[in-house]
Amino acid sequence: MGSPVPSGPRRPLVWVNCAASLDGRLAFAGGKRAALSGPEDLARVQRLRARADAILVGVGTVVKDDPSLRVHWELLGEPKGPNPTRVIVDASGRTPTNAKVLDGSAPTIVATSERSTRTFPRHVRTIVCGTTRVDLPRLFATLRSGGVGRLMVEGGAEVLSSVLRDRLFDRFTIYYAPVVVGGSTAPPVVSGPETHGPEDLTIFELLSVERLGTGSLATYAPEGRRGPLPEPW
Ligand SMILES: NC(=O)c1ccc[n+]([C@@H]2O[C@H](COP(=O)([O-])OP(=O)(O)OC[C@H]3O[C@@H](n4cnc5c(N)ncnc54)[C@H](OP(=O)(O)O)[C@@H]3O)[C@@H](O)[C@H]2O)c1
Repeated sequence: MGSPVPSGPRRPLVWVNCAASLDGRLAFAGGKRAALSGPEDLARVQRLRARADAILVGVGTVVKDDPSLRVHWELLGEPKGPNPTRVIVDASGRTPTNAKVLDGSAPTIVATSERSTRTFPRHVRTIVCGTTRVDLPRLFATLRSGGVGRLMVEGGAEVLSSVLRDRLFDRFTIYYAPVVVGGSTAPPVVSGPETHGPEDLTIFELLSVERLGTGSLATYAPEGRRGPLPEPW
């Protein structure tokens, strides 16, 4: 067993989740949204969401998918509870004005950088952290000090690159749907900088693999950090 997860005052517990095709794509050609999860996986994701204090996605996902980032309690068969805070990583302020995440139906934070001049509706909290990109360690520390103990990260490819490669997470679950997407423009699970050799690889520790509906679910920890979470999710 590895060392315990170093969560604490500097960041929340972070659970990264995504659904991919067998060839490691998150969506269809050009980033068009693909519903890759089966019903069992959808219910699992809703359980993760329901226990999170906040759910984070990048602005690319907001533009392509227009997610509500709300808990669909009906899929859980549970009475409605509070919705986690929605956190959008949007350095330049390009979240569409009519995006569901700005509809005021749940607490919402847009994390921007100094290059954004965008203003948002009064019910949206803006956190400026970073000069040109959103400084994720700084953002996570701000969320932690604002009471976010459990943060779920749902994508897309560029945000997954930042969070996974900088080891800003505690658990990573990836659901593989039994399909291939192929082509050259469907986004991969992780984009970001090129990997030139083994020294650049981000290494994970496999915790479990299970069949889930018609697909499979793999759970990972960062290398050397497979110890139990300091608190259950
Ligand atoms: N299958 C799944 O589970 C799943 C889940 C979510 C999304 N998706 C898919 O993922 C695709 C979108 O992915 P994407 O890579 O285009 O967008 P993304 O990861 O959602 O957002 C990336 C954008 O966030 C902003 N950003 C600011 N600071 C950043 C930082 N430190 N690290 C990373 N990003 C930062 C950048 O835009 P600015 O510079 O303008 O700020 C960047 O282009 C869509 O096709 C969607 O369907 C799939």
